[in-house]
Amino acid sequence: HDPKLPAYSTGDPTSFAYSTSRERWPIIITQAIDDVYRTVGASNDATEAEKQAEGKKILGELAQLKYELQHNRALTPLRDDGFPDVAVYNDELARRGGNLTWLDAPWLFTECYLFRRMSTSFTLSQHWKSYDVFARQKIKSFRSSRAAVLELAARYHELIPQLRDKAAAAAPPRDAEADRLLFAEMCDVCLWGNASDLSLLLVLSYDTIGQIQGSEARRAAEKNILVNDLPRVHEHLERLRASGQAERRVDIVLDNAGFELFVDLVLAGYLLAAGLATTVVLHPKSIPWFVSDVLPSDFAALLNALAAPRAFFETPSGEDELRGVTPPKLTDDEVAQLEFLFGDWSRLHADGRLVLRPNRAWTGPGSFWRLPFEAPDLVEDLRQGVLTIFKGDLNYRKLVGDVAWDPTTPFPEALGPLGPKSGVNVLSLRTCKADVVVGLKPGEDEELRKTEGGGGDTGARKWAWNGKWAVVSFSQATS
Ligand code: F6P
Ligand code: MG
Repeated sequence: HDPKLPAYSTGDPTSFAYSTSRERWPIIITQAIDDVYRTVGASNDATEAEKQAEGKKILGELAQLKYELQHNRALTPLRDDGFPDVAVYNDELARRGGNLTWLDAPWLFTECYLFRRMSTSFTLSQHWKSYDVFARQKIKSFRSSRAAVLELAARYHELIPQLRDKAAAAAPPRDAEADRLLFAEMCDVCLWGNASDLSLLLVLSYDTIGQIQGSEARRAAEKNILVNDLPRVHEHLERLRASGQAERRVDIVLDNAGFELFVDLVLAGYLLAAGLATTVVLHPKSIPWFVSDVLPSDFAALLNALAAPRAFFETPSGEDELRGVTPPKLTDDEVAQLEFLFGDWSRLHADGRLVLRPNRAWTGPGSFWRLPFEAPDLVEDLRQGVLTIFKGDLNYRKLVGDVAWDPTTPFPEALGPLGPKSGVNVLSLRTCKADVVVGLKPGEDEELRKTEGGGGDTGARKWAWNGKWAVVSFSQATS
């Protein structure tokens, strides 16, 4: 059920897969090794001897994985750790002849395999089963997002009570233009929150995160949204609201933890307060995934940080300590605003209006073209909602199959079986961090390649690799 076009491959020097597999994947594994090493070192208590011994075994396995990758060995079958998706991965390996090598293999499959393979080392242990090897990095980056978090908390604190008052009024005043602008602002916040994922942070620094997250950065980046279907999405949600349909659920297929999850919750809270949704269902991952993707435990960690904002944002990070700096104290207003968010989101969660719904289908090896066949219940569930928002780059690659589409292919067509006839209303909020792109105007890709660092005539679509450009694409269901 995959698109019949060539998949982007780690063996193609013009694809971002090439440097990703050779440079970034080894760093990702090294960081995981460092993290386990630290945890092993921290547990020097005699009662933890077993955990330590297991930790050392995991370290060996991760080092072996890195060796196999860097020496371009074949991808070996996953060990059975009790989850049914092992068979899905291994069947695909077998279907591909069992001789896929790391540096000459389909990008999407191999990258999913990398993270699934890492997770087997932990799930097959006794003491590290639910250990998130990327948790430290996620927390560190959320601390570095402080300035943007405070800016948005102030905005949310001001906006949400106003929206609720308006919704509660007998004949709420409607200013269609203001409503449209606010919707666009909230979606933009949510879109650009994706620019700062941790897999790309390998090339950015923690200091620059702040610069790409604030409202000024967002305004400046508006011209970088190449496809913008938000007006149609707003119309769709407004029409349903006006129709009086009682249940209007919006699903968000999450991407990264920390700042991006924070902006996802800002969007969710806004949609609920504005009456554009009656429930929001969040879809996290079930295993540590692409470094920074949300696990259910990240949702809890975010709420905990907001519940005790001083403890979280005023604690110096390891780097702060090295540099001898202490983060500035939060003002009382800032604390109150963060606590407001905590109260608001905890209440929505407790009331069942903000729901977390994991599904292992999200961490399978294939594209979402396969979802209707491999996870029909999940697709049926999404059909019950009025909109499914897919966040981020990887979800986009999975939606369109990570193959070499002509960039002018219409988005609904590139969704294949998840297109309009599936009954799912699909919205992708994606900053571009890979090769694939669809929905562009004729000639647009060529123009972008001519820009500085855009790839020129190298055959590589470099402009699409670094999160500077974005696409906001909508496919409306026909049934
Ligand atoms: O930069 C490439 C990459 O690591 C891809 O492998 C992946 O698609 C993406 O970044 C992760 O980004 P996101 O968190 O937006 O899905
Ligand atoms: Mg991600």
